[in-house]
Amino acid sequence: MEKILPPICSKLMGLKEENRIPFHMPGHKRRWPGDDLFPGAEDHGKALGAIYGMDITEITGYDDLHNPHGIIRESMDYLKEIYHTSASWYLINGSTAGILASISAVCRPGDRILVARNCHRSVYHALRLLRLDSVYLYPGLCRKGEVIKGIGEEDRDRLVSLLETHHGVKAMIITSPTYEGLVSDVRTIKEIIRPYGIPLIVDEAHGAHFIYHESFPESAVECGADLVIQSVHKTLPCATQTALLHLCSDLVPEERVREMLSVYQTSSPSYLLLASAEYGVFYTHNHPDKVGEYVDKLLDFRRKCEQLKRIRLFQPEPSDAFAYDPGKLLFLTGGAGIDGLSLFRTLLDRYHIECEMACAASCLAMTSLSDRGEDLAKLEEAIFAIDEEVDAAWFGCSSGLSARELPDTVVFSFRPEREMAIWEAMDGEKRSLVWEECTGRIAADYVCLYPPGIPILVPGEKITKEIVEKMNEYLYNGYNVPALSDGQFKVTAEDGRSR
Ligand SMILES: Cc1ncc(COP(=O)(O)O)c(C=O)c1O
Repeated sequence: MEKILPPICSKLMGLKEENRIPFHMPGHKRRWPGDDLFPGAEDHGKALGAIYGMDITEITGYDDLHNPHGIIRESMDYLKEIYHTSASWYLINGSTAGILASISAVCRPGDRILVARNCHRSVYHALRLLRLDSVYLYPGLCRKGEVIKGIGEEDRDRLVSLLETHHGVKAMIITSPTYEGLVSDVRTIKEIIRPYGIPLIVDEAHGAHFIYHESFPESAVECGADLVIQSVHKTLPCATQTALLHLCSDLVPEERVREMLSVYQTSSPSYLLLASAEYGVFYTHNHPDKVGEYVDKLLDFRRKCEQLKRIRLFQPEPSDAFAYDPGKLLFLTGGAGIDGLSLFRTLLDRYHIECEMACAASCLAMTSLSDRGEDLAKLEEAIFAIDEEVDAAWFGCSSGLSARELPDTVVFSFRPEREMAIWEAMDGEKRSLVWEECTGRIAADYVCLYPPGIPILVPGEKITKEIVEKMNEYLYNGYNVPALSDGQFKVTAEDGRSR
């Protein structure tokens, strides 16, 4: 494999030697102002100082993210080669910016869009901003209701029926992989929607690493998606906020995507973030050996976990998903009789291991090629010790964790009725009510379970008694539902429509 050197990083590394005196932004002038507010933190000051020394935006000779002709152009051309795309862009406002830009590139205000209901909230923000009419495709649930399935062949009839009954759909957006690593059959979805001539946007925020090893699922960029968004900060060695947007066909004009990226991305892009995104991608591309080692460690970890007695490491059935990312270590705790939040807290408090998320019946550890073998060994040791302990608890001989019967089901499949559009409900008059009194009212806010933050109730939808009761149950079980944190919820005023 040809080694590719990163142009943005290379230029940035030489900045200090240029000895330029900065009479421009940012205001720190590439110097840490001093440590006197944090006495004793000189080392941190030095570290921040080193970072400040390279913290520039578009200065002379360093190109322009919104109209690239120099190092950024060169770097993004390499991205095209690496990911085999028609065009690729660096994002420094996360996948969020890529999702907003992609939807804005393919829809005009008021258009109709087909949305997988388990999409990230940034998709819903686009629906609101562009006043789109959303048609939802609800993905199925895994056999025990533990996680939301991928979309594929079994959804064909429902998908065709939605397209046939809702004319004029302008685009479709799905999330694949899901937070838990379940991948949809993008080729089949594309084949189903092709006769309608609409672009397929894939939120592949959790799949930037897929192209680097055959043990990972195929990336949507290889399966016929038109626009693909990837958070490199989630699974590659890249800084928070960094992401990529790929255009993979000629169904969407490149110019339109570029224009929309200019709307949603800052006019002062951080070169630290650009360099970090670039370096993480180029490093992974140039080190198939490291990716191979990572995959070997993962597969070994997964094999060992087959010996767990009570806690289960999730492995979907073939009918649950077209493919699965082995890098997502989802520990199912329902059968062990402890909730996922207890597992999360125990790992943190006793073993200093911090997972990505937890909910009533699972706890998710995210991995990447930056995980050291010793860290995976510690996770293994901790999980096996906790598993032994809960096993003992079933026989009444544990002094620590206690175990009880718990259902595996953590997601539920309400399909609330829509009374008005998201933007009408959110931008119109609202009032706050005690959650218990919200039955029959129209939501003016999202009800999302965190993690992973997928909306159960979207503004404009009717709140049923069943939803009120189920959310109370989730709150009781320790879930985080931000919109209900003070027991109140925003509903539309009687004539809540926006004027
Ligand atoms: C499925 C999915 N899509 C999009 C996003 C947004 O990504 P970012 O944080 O890079 O903006 C997230 C964030 O967690 C996500 O889980």
